[in-house]
Amino acid sequence: MADHHRARIEFDPRFTVAEVPDRLFGSFVEHLGRCVYTGIYEPEHPTANADGLREDVLDLIRELGPTMIRYPGGNFVSGYRWEDGVGPKEDRPRRLDLAWGTTETNQFGLGEFMKFCRTVDVEPNMAVNLGTRGLQEALDLFEYANHPGGTYWSDLRRSHGDEEPYGIKLWCLGNEMDGPWQIGQRTATEYGRIADQTARSLRFIDGSDDLDLVACGSSSRGMPFFGAWENEVLTHTYESVDYISAHAYYHPLDGDVTSFMASAQDMELFIDGVIATADAVGAKLKSDKKINISFDEWNVWYQTAPTGERPEPWSIAPRQLEDHYSAMDAVVFGSLLITLLRRSDRVTAACLAQLVNVIAPIMTEPGGPAWRQTTFFPFAEASKYGRGTVLNVNADSPAFDTKKYGEVSALHSVAVAGEDGSVTVFAVNRDLETPMTLEIDASSVQVGDVTVSTLTDADRDAKNTVDDQDRVAPVANGDVVVKDGLITVELPAMSWNTIRIA
Ligand code: AHR
Repeated sequence: MADHHRARIEFDPRFTVAEVPDRLFGSFVEHLGRCVYTGIYEPEHPTANADGLREDVLDLIRELGPTMIRYPGGNFVSGYRWEDGVGPKEDRPRRLDLAWGTTETNQFGLGEFMKFCRTVDVEPNMAVNLGTRGLQEALDLFEYANHPGGTYWSDLRRSHGDEEPYGIKLWCLGNEMDGPWQIGQRTATEYGRIADQTARSLRFIDGSDDLDLVACGSSSRGMPFFGAWENEVLTHTYESVDYISAHAYYHPLDGDVTSFMASAQDMELFIDGVIATADAVGAKLKSDKKINISFDEWNVWYQTAPTGERPEPWSIAPRQLEDHYSAMDAVVFGSLLITLLRRSDRVTAACLAQLVNVIAPIMTEPGGPAWRQTTFFPFAEASKYGRGTVLNVNADSPAFDTKKYGEVSALHSVAVAGEDGSVTVFAVNRDLETPMTLEIDASSVQVGDVTVSTLTDADRDAKNTVDDQDRVAPVANGDVVVKDGLITVELPAMSWNTIRIA
């Protein structure tokens, strides 16, 4: 094995992939574990505002920079009665949540979510229940949320204090309806039909052209009917929806961390497969329309090793899915972000699952502090600097061998041109052992200041914890030489790097 890699990239602002879609930096708040309760919402917390939202968490969310938030699930939505979460809090019923085996108090619901979205300035992405419920309840919810007034549901919203309609544009038609774990799982034909009926009826109420609807794709690329599911669902919904969803979670299998580092390969293949299927349906239907992907759940998630305590059956907001992320996880996470940017011509919405406490970049303690996980940093940097136009990058990189994906290039990178003439290169060295010298041919742009921020750690398992909240964070990387439009940067093994060329 080489003891040092050399890689090179070049780009030209004239050769572009796509405008970075605003919705690419979405996230996800589900009624699951402590994402809502003691995550974003904790009225008793010392920093809570008048709406019961934790200001310490709101500050971290603003720093993280999500642009859109999906709500209220996830698996939870497939058993949810949205009416339980509106109106006077003292009248709201407690219900069993069959998705996660807990009790839902309904102290946080649609109105609170909309306030939260306004407070952190994100677009709401609302999911409807097509598991235990169906078309009528989705229409009622839509009328409550979006109709101005003068009808039963819209006037009910007004009587709850929200005079103006919420104007929610982005809607998910159910969640993971192919999964045997989903309450009310459906066949592709059943789901395709109800998704199409729901989509057409929502559009009829809405009456505008700018409603964006997401049909459920396969729950993962590993599902037995992956491809066939998308084909059947889109055959029913092609003209009535805008997006097909994709979900993917990664963790090392059988300790194979080398393949784990290359997880973005799977995401690429997943995107290729969904696009090929969607375009094939479009061709079959002789349609000019293109269906894009809403990658509305993605992350690292240690699914075979649940962390936190096993919840007491039917307890309220217990610790569930509280993964603690390492430096290595953050680098893989950054690489997934790079893929989303690289494919943003067809992945035009995406949601980091989830936002707080549940497989999340932000952690909290009830009554205590809030802090950043390692994965916080790649997301925050990509959301801040990855705006503008994705450029076509030519890369020459050495490869490393993985059990799962064969030879994989050690360098994974993307370049984004900002409106101000700057270019930001996000670069991951996916090799766990071998550092890399990266040469960037930036002769096509004006090179002024070059700054590099690097996230890595000699201990790949290093994590931020409540007792050591800043153990892992990006640091300024001074190993940069700029000469005649050529930028040379030293990338440590297993590192996420943000290279700003201003
Ligand atoms: O994000 C956690 C869960 O993962 C979601 O509820 C579900 O949609 C997916 O299986």
